[in-house]
Order: sequence, then structure tokens, then C-alpha cells
Amino acid sequence: MNAVEIEEAVSALAEQAFDAAEFPFAFLLAFGNKETTIKRLRAGASNKSDFKSGLGGVLQTNHIHIAVCPPGETGKTLAALRASPATARAKARFVLATDGVDFEAEDRDTGETVACVYQDFPDHFGFFLPLAGITTVKQVRESSFDIRATSRLNRLYVELLKDNAEWGTAGRRHDMNHFMARLIFCFFAENTDIFNGTGLFTDTIAQMSAKDSSNAHEVIGELFRAMNTRIGDRASVGITRWADAFPYVNGGLFSGSMDVPRFSRIARSYLLHIGNLDWTKINPDIFGSMIQTVADDDERGALGMHYTSVPNILKVLNPLFLDDLRARFAEAGDNPRTLLNLRKRMSKIRVFDPACGSGNFLVIAYKEMRAIEAEINQRRGEPDRRSEIPLTSFRGIEIRDFPAEVARLALIIAEFQCDVLYRGQKEALAEFLPLDSQNWITCGNALRLDWLSICPPTGGVVKFAADDLFHTPLDQAQIDFENEGGETYICGNPPYLGSTWQSAEQKADIRTLLKGRTSSSGFLDYVAGWFIKAADYRTRTNSVAAFVSTNSICQGQSVSILWPVLFDTGCDIRFAYTSFKWSNLAANKAGVTVVIVGIGSPTSAPRRLYEHDEQNGVLIREGASITPYLTLGPRIIIEKRDEPIGILSVMEFGNKPSDGGHLLLRSGELASLGLDDAQRDKFIRRIYGSDDFINGGSRLCIWIEDQNLKEALSIESLKARIEGVRRVRLASRDKGANALAKRAHQLKLMRIGTRSTIVVPSVSSARRPYLPAGLVDHHTTLTNLAFGLYDAPPWNMALIASRLHLVWIATVCGKLKTDFRYSNTLGWNTFPVPTLTEKNKADLTRCAEEILLAREAHFPATIADLYEPDKMPANLREAHERNDEVLEHIYIGRRFRNDTERLEKLFELYTKMTAGQATAAKRPANKRTGEASA
Ligand SMILES: C[S@@+](CC[C@H](N)C(=O)[O-])C[C@H]1O[C@@H](n2cnc3c(N)ncnc32)[C@H](O)[C@@H]1O
Repeated sequence: MNAVEIEEAVSALAEQAFDAAEFPFAFLLAFGNKETTIKRLRAGASNKSDFKSGLGGVLQTNHIHIAVCPPGETGKTLAALRASPATARAKARFVLATDGVDFEAEDRDTGETVACVYQDFPDHFGFFLPLAGITTVKQVRESSFDIRATSRLNRLYVELLKDNAEWGTAGRRHDMNHFMARLIFCFFAENTDIFNGTGLFTDTIAQMSAKDSSNAHEVIGELFRAMNTRIGDRASVGITRWADAFPYVNGGLFSGSMDVPRFSRIARSYLLHIGNLDWTKINPDIFGSMIQTVADDDERGALGMHYTSVPNILKVLNPLFLDDLRARFAEAGDNPRTLLNLRKRMSKIRVFDPACGSGNFLVIAYKEMRAIEAEINQRRGEPDRRSEIPLTSFRGIEIRDFPAEVARLALIIAEFQCDVLYRGQKEALAEFLPLDSQNWITCGNALRLDWLSICPPTGGVVKFAADDLFHTPLDQAQIDFENEGGETYICGNPPYLGSTWQSAEQKADIRTLLKGRTSSSGFLDYVAGWFIKAADYRTRTNSVAAFVSTNSICQGQSVSILWPVLFDTGCDIRFAYTSFKWSNLAANKAGVTVVIVGIGSPTSAPRRLYEHDEQNGVLIREGASITPYLTLGPRIIIEKRDEPIGILSVMEFGNKPSDGGHLLLRSGELASLGLDDAQRDKFIRRIYGSDDFINGGSRLCIWIEDQNLKEALSIESLKARIEGVRRVRLASRDKGANALAKRAHQLKLMRIGTRSTIVVPSVSSARRPYLPAGLVDHHTTLTNLAFGLYDAPPWNMALIASRLHLVWIATVCGKLKTDFRYSNTLGWNTFPVPTLTEKNKADLTRCAEEILLAREAHFPATIADLYEPDKMPANLREAHERNDEVLEHIYIGRRFRNDTERLEKLFELYTKMTAGQATAAKRPANKRTGEASA
């Protein structure tokens, strides 16, 4: 069962007469338990309760211990359940006691409790969601009104589509969404006195529509018509008496088509039910996040899936502009003029979210600004003063129709709630209606729309390029922006989508934006488009932008594609949050690792870098500039190099077979070649790719040096293999392969160490605490799926196996999904190492040997086994620790404090070492390294 279904079942249970004996089972059924599970509990087989008083208890292992008690004993019973040894033994997360009048429960994991009258327990159903295996964030769990309202609107939506199938088609979806938005507004308005009196909307429908619901659509249509007609015009258009009690609302919300879908009896009853909820409790940012899934067939029922917590939204908004407003407010003290100036400044600020979803960033920005303004008004002795912060300053673009509708509604509701909070209900009501009909949330593709027309620089009348929200014809939405000198802050959480997941249209969006600015747009994440648009927008406006983004735009090749384009517009990184887990989405979405990057015009103010520490506190550091890799330091972009910058040995690809399977031997094939021991020694080598090396198992290959060709051809089995290769290569459409037919006895390249080879897998899981490099003997070679340092001094391996190198590779090469993609040209050739003395090299060699010996002690464990993050053997971990200790002392005479310090040192050294050198991009390709990167 999903959360929505559970809410329904729980509500239905609370509405039935209380049945003491049945309650525990009915409760468990409502939370998704199967009939068979309940049967076993009833029979006592799986009931672990030791609770004997009253009707006894029901204890479901790991879940809940429930007892129904005599009247007035709920508190006592809950305490007894808490203290019961069976509760602890069965590790029950919840205890619950009720006498049918009172209801008390406790979550033993969190210590949170619920105490309410029995009928109200559905208000707390989010509290018990873990019983159904649904874990979601606290704010969503606790927002019971928002959950219940969403759940019921969900049901209404589905029910309406059953009888009005055409409203679910692409052509009418907008009408359906618009209809739902109208309903939500009416429910809110009838509970908050906006519609003269309480419950007017629901009561009117209940009274005026027939019980069989045959005319419900006409009644609702008439109410909408009234809300779209000015009071003075009503008589002339013949608004009926019962609809005349409704105020004129319009604001675009009730203009356009007055069509209402037909209501079944069930749909009518759902509607009346929804109207009976207490809509004053709506929390516009949470509600918006939930309700936007209603119109989405795939996501309907997924509770809080798009919920972004207020603290996370503030991570963007605070450094972007709210911190500054608060600082100015603190500085102003009681000075009326300075306070006035700040208020004026705030009245001209625009906040623009070009991927606004249901408007949560805009709602939070609005509420925070209203809070500051209210304090200003307090200090100036004008507590009742009307707000000077126009809602229309909170602009958005959203590609999906329903969230765009909801965003505007959410802002309208937030404005009303702020007015009530800061000015009182009377004042709030006095100015609320009619709604402002200006269009400030645009439904469209933000990467195709002209942001200057949606959020124009200053003053001036602008036409919208996109379809507007509430039926205003395309070419009519015009706003006069009188905010001369105003600031614009762009914010949001645009969609992240790696290049492989982008649709053709999304790829085209990015290509169009990058046209003529870079040659390799293919790698960029979709979110990069918002940074480019914001950077371009800044060139024409006084604006700063900050987005939450996948951290991939600050790693690997994306850096050298995206950031030069952004910097070319003249912008700079103003502040940033380094990578952190965006873990507060509902549990059905894996947490993503994100960064927040703020870009704007260069200023003399220090740049701020925010980093989460291990306790999830935030450390703020300041510097003159921030690199696109999100470290403090001068601007730097690491580009591929053909050769190492320092004393490092050359790292090259392994050998591409291009052999049609004739040179590589499958298991058991060796015997069929009929070679004696001496021939095997001469013609057979072990060969590894990344996967073989990491997960164990290697293959064999035929290895024929030119000087041994004659002898090889004299062996029939080898001759046949060579012939096979020749045929395959000649048949290939690739000219390079055709040319290789002349060397049919060999792999494409013939790289092998004469003493040993250091192996570096080209792909390896980013979960491992170290890169799994290793050493193989001179009888072993590599495929092109691994890199090799042939006959290189072993201290090179100590470098590759270090934390420092892992941090460098993670940043400079980046990841593909959850793997590091090693690149010799981008990650190794650029790796800055200080001059090493002979002693340093000897120390590092010993460290590398110790790592290898530590691994051998666990033979036959594979690299994958040994580097499993939680199971890494102690001796191996210690060997790596020693290696890091030695290497880091070489860099700075002590261990680094953290990865940020490591990176900053590496960038500093890189800058010094490459000063005055050209990069691969500016030089012809090097013949030795050939292919650029893995
Ligand atoms: C990650 S959500 C963030 C929305 C909201 N701030 C939140 O936290 O729920 C990204 C939003 O961008 C919208 N979106 C996706 N592609 C878009 C495009 N090309 N133009 C405008 N909006 C887009 C999605 O529909 C979605 O609502």
C-alpha cells in the first residue's frame, strides 16, 4: 500500500464505531499488513505480547505493541507497554494504547509521542508510516494536514477521470489541472473567511447539488462563474442568488473556460469530505511538494517525493541574499531612515526560480522576506503597515502544467498567511481579493525561454514569450516592472540528468545554449543549462544566481567544458557548498550528492565556501576566489596532458586485442593448442582487464614477439589462430584494423613489462576507500581496459594507492554513475608531486610493498573482497594509512586535515608546476599515449 491508500484506510477505521477487540488487527490491516499475517496474530502464533490485562496485547515483532485498555487507563497502559520485557525482546518500534476515547503512542526509536482523542489519530498517521516500510522526512510525516489533503485530492482526481476520460487526455489536461487549482483555492478560502463565513463553498455544493450528483458540475460551474464576475455586473449576467454570496476572485484563476467535469456520487462525496478538512493548516511549501504528484500518472500516491526541506532551501537563499538582508537589518538598529531604505530595497528585490516546481523556493524566499520586513515595521513603529513586497516579484518557470498552477496558488496562500501573521486577519482579508491577475509564473521550457522577457532588467513593459498560467492569451500577459535599480536573485533546484539519460530534445537544449562556445557539449548534465542561462542573464542585469546541482558539474571533464563558457561571460563563483547528500527526499529516491554554486559579477567581497563537517555542522571558510572544483584558490581548470608534469613514470593503455577472439584464450582452450612447457613459456601470457584484476580471474593470451614468429608459424594451432586474426582484420570496415592484418600474430599494441607492470583499472567503484592499483609480473600483460606503468619504479604505485590520488581522481576525472573513470591524460599526467629524494622514493617503495604484502596475507581474497569499505582487513588498512602518512609528510610535513586541504594543496602545486606550460588541448596528440582517456 502506498501512503495515500494507508491514509484512506486509517481514516475509514477512525470513522467506524470503536471495536475494542478488533482495533489492533484493524489498525495493522490499515497499515498494509496482509490478511494471513493478521490471521497468525489472531491465532496467537506470531503474537509475542506479554500483556495480560484488559483484552491483552498484540505484539508484532520489530513493529508495534498495541493494547486496548479500560476507560481512562490509556496513559498507564502506554507506560506498561513501554516497560514490558516483550516490547524490548521483540524490538517493537512503536507502543500504542487506546481506550477508544484517548489514543497514545510512542516511537521508541526517536522518543516522539502522540497523544490525542481517538477520532483524531488519523491526523498522526504519518507517525506510523514506518510500520508500512515507508520512511520519509520528519517534516512530511508531521504535516498531517498536507498529507491528508493530498491523499483526498488524489482520490478525487482519479475518480473524476473515471467518468471524464477526455479530461485526462493531453488536450484537456490543462483544464483538469486548472479545475483542481480552483478547487484548492476554494477550500482554502472557505476556511479562512476569504469567502464570507466558514464552509460556504462545501456547504453550497452539499445543499444545491442533488444527492445523486447529477447536477454537481452545474452547481460548481455557477460558483466559478460568480467568482469571475464583478459584484456590480452580476445582475446583468444573471448569477443565481445562492452563488451571489461568493466574492469576486478572478485574478485569472476563475477566468477562461467554466467547464467542470461531471461528478459521480463517489466523486461528490470525496469533494464534500475534502471540504471538511481544516484548510487553515495548509503549509504551502509542503502541500505544493505533495500535491504536484496528483496530476502525474506515474507519481500519484508518492508522498512528499519532491519535498525539499526548508533548511536545504535556505542553504541556497541565505548566502544568496537573505544573510545580507539580515546583516543590513542588524546594522540598521533603530535608525528609521536606514530601516526605511532597507525596506525600499527589499520592495525592489526579485527572486526568480527558473525550475520552480510547485514554488517552494519562492514561497520560502517570500516568507523570509516578509519576516524581515515585519521586523522593520515593528522597529519603525508601523506594525500594521501593508507589505511593500509584491508577490509578482517572485517569478518562476516550470515546464509541467500542474506544479506551475500550484506554485502560483502556493504563493497566494503564503501571502495571505503572512498578512494574517504580521497584520492580523482583518487586514489580511481587507486586501486579499480580487486576486492580482498579473502573470508571474510561466509554464514552459526554461532553457528555451528568454529570461530577460520573463524577468526583465528594470522598468519597461515586456511581453511574455510563453503560455501563461491561468488562461491569459499568449500575447496579453504584460507587466510593467517598476523596480528601477532592483536586484534579481535567481535560485532553485533544476533537474539533474546525466547526458546518457537526456532526451533528444533536452540534448538539443544544451547544444543550442553552447553553440559556438565549445565543441564538446555532449558530456554536460542537463542542470548545466541553468547555469549557462543564468550567466548569460547576468550580463544584462544586476543579478546573482545560485542553484543546487549534481556535483558532476564541478568534477571531471564537465569542468573544462562548462566553466570556461561561464567564466567567458564575466561571471565568478561568489559562494558554494561543497558536496553533501541531498538525503531528505522521500526514501523511495536514493539520496544524491549535490553542491550549491552561486555565480555573479566579480566583487571585492570575500568568497565563501561552506562545507559540512562529519557531525553535519557547517564550516565556513573565506578566500579571494573559489575554483570550479569548489576549493578556495585561484581559478584553475585542469586539462588533459600528454605527459606527466613531474617525475612520474609514463602511464599507458593496455593492449587492445582487435583479434576476433583468436589471440585471447577462453578457459580450457590452452590445452587445445598442444604446446609443450617451453612453448607455453614463450607464447602464452596472462592478461588482465579492470574487471579481471578487481574481481579475480584472469585470462590467457597468445603473445608472439616478432623474433619468435617463424617458430610460432611452425606450430599448426598457432598458425591457425594467426590466420583467424588476419581474416577478421581484413574483413573489418576499420582501415586501422585492415592495416593491422599485417601483424596478425599480435595484439594491436604489444606493451608488457620486462620486469613488472603497475596495473591501474580504468573503471572502479567509487565506494572503495582507495584506488585498487596493483603489480603484475613480466609474464602478465593488460587489455586496453586497464592502464599500465611498464617497468616503472614501485613508488609510483604508492602514489596511485594514496588517499591524495583518490581525491585528485575523484575531482579531476569525476565519476560515471558510481564508478571512478580513471584517465591517464587527465588524472595521472596532471597529478602534481613534489620533487622526491632518493629516500622519499625508498620510503614509498616500502609502503607499496607493505600494501602488496598485506593483500597477500589474505590470499585468495580478490581486490573487490579486500577493499569492501566496511570489511577491509586491519593490516591492509594500516598499510594504506602508513602509505598516506609517508606521502603526506612529503607534501606538507604532516597529515592533511581533510580532503579539501588535500585538494587545495594539489591545486596549488599544480599551478606552480604548470606555470608557463601548454596543455594537451593546445598541442598535437602524443603518439605514445594515443587515445586520450578511458
Ligand atoms: C528537482 S525539481 C525542483 C522543483 C522544486 N524546487 C522542488 O524542490 O521540488 C526540478 C523541476 O524542474 C522542472 N523542469 C524540468 N525541466 C524543465 C525545463 N526544461 N524548464 C523548466 N522546468 C523544468 C521539473 O518539472 C521540476 O519541477
